[in-house]
Amino acid sequence: KRVVVFISGGGSNMLSLLEATKAADFPAEIVAVVSDKPEAGGLAKARAEGIATYAFARRDYPSKADHEMAILGKLSELQPDLICLAGYMRLLSADFIQAYAGAILNIHPSLLPLFAGLHTHERALDAGMRVAGCTVHFVTEGMDEGPIIAQGVVPVMADDTAETLASRVLTVEHQLYPMALRAVALGEVRMDDAGNTVRTGSN
Ligand code: GRF
Repeated sequence: KRVVVFISGGGSNMLSLLEATKAADFPAEIVAVVSDKPEAGGLAKARAEGIATYAFARRDYPSKADHEMAILGKLSELQPDLICLAGYMRLLSADFIQAYAGAILNIHPSLLPLFAGLHTHERALDAGMRVAGCTVHFVTEGMDEGPIIAQGVVPVMADDTAETLASRVLTVEHQLYPMALRAVALGEVRMDDAGNTVRTGSN
């Protein structure tokens, strides 16, 4: 399966996915990394690994639709089977999502449906959560609400700060995303037309 990864920042999840795809039996390959930020640190890391990168600065386009059209144009050349959002900090329009229905994955640093949106670790600590974690889900039109593919859990420690919790969750993200991508690439997990996760594998 051909995969394009979308990033906006450091791209640590992108790198974890890239490492996983190096295994001979991994059922997907990353063919390009796309970013809405030309300065995203992950772009240099992808290039260092020999992966093609394409940056589309939002400010270079008059509208969100034009920005997405440019990205979709590149995607039509790349012909990805799957798109992995990894620290991509921009909402995709319904039209964009429809163009790749059931083929866009995202990783979110909370146990969805809890704490959709931003500042997830602060909110988990403020809520007194004793566990936290991350979720890989199919992307649908609503923000952080698509059908769940996989989740990872970590304990919340009494002396945790948002930073220490974020670090513990990020470590699990780096393990979870490759597992989730593998399951989807193998067809063990998919999203049906009603927007539900359908599992055929053992996961
Ligand atoms: C991670 O917490 C991820 O869950 C969120 O963005 C953060 C940074 O990701 N989506 P990365 O290091 O850029 O992959």
